[in-house]
Amino acid sequence: MARPFLFGTNFKMNQTPAESAAFYRQLAASVEIPPHVYLFVIPPFTSLAAVREVAGPQPHQIWVGAQNVHWAPDGAYTGEISVGMLLALDVDLVLLGHAERRRYFHETDVELNRKVLAAVGAGLRVLLAMGETAEERGFGVSGETVLRQLRIGLHDVPPEHLEKIQIAYEPVWSIGAGGTPASPEDVEPIARLIRSGCQDLFGDPGSKIPILYGGSVDPSNAGTFTALPDIDGLFVGRAGWTVEGFVATYQAGYAGKSESQ
Ligand code: PGA
Repeated sequence: MARPFLFGTNFKMNQTPAESAAFYRQLAASVEIPPHVYLFVIPPFTSLAAVREVAGPQPHQIWVGAQNVHWAPDGAYTGEISVGMLLALDVDLVLLGHAERRRYFHETDVELNRKVLAAVGAGLRVLLAMGETAEERGFGVSGETVLRQLRIGLHDVPPEHLEKIQIAYEPVWSIGAGGTPASPEDVEPIARLIRSGCQDLFGDPGSKIPILYGGSVDPSNAGTFTALPDIDGLFVGRAGWTVEGFVATYQAGYAGKSESQ
């Protein structure tokens, strides 16, 4: 079976609960979602309850995601949020390993692996983000870097939980206002490497793990990434922060995938 198409945005440290709820409501009213397409929004923790109110009971038309989770079920971890707390809010997905978490909060691959196992073990979908820094790229170790992040991050994921995993390849140098957009030629070999890395880890079921691209994606370049055979969707920041931008970027990405098939 063909892999699904995924598209979503991370609001990062932006938006009040009321703003996130209004965004979700307007987005849900603006899009028709074909079969095998999954859309998602990842607001800050403080917006999750308000968005869930709008989204109603699961299954949600548009997945609601969290930006992080702790690996322990409970305990003395001030400022952290557990998997159970997210499940109590009917969260569909958790983002792990975003470049900003790795860079500013020093999250390691080993810690991320603990988080991945805790999340999928409790039934949450995971979007595991990975990508090389400009420095690693300069040294010519993009492939090695991403494979290490993949192999440690997904270490010991049980086969029955594989369908909960999706990967976002986001070269760190391409993310955010200061980023340089990558070209499809940059992305193609790394996406292929991630695909074969998943197959090495998990056999045939591993090759079905969706791989999203992220980093300075907008409507003008979205379709160039999704036309790549190993890219199954897009994970955007800024371009998805207005409903109009979200819909335009999703549609451009989806058109790029449809035309390439
Ligand atoms: P950007 O962010 O689309 O604004 O570059 C991407 C990300 O941080 O995932």
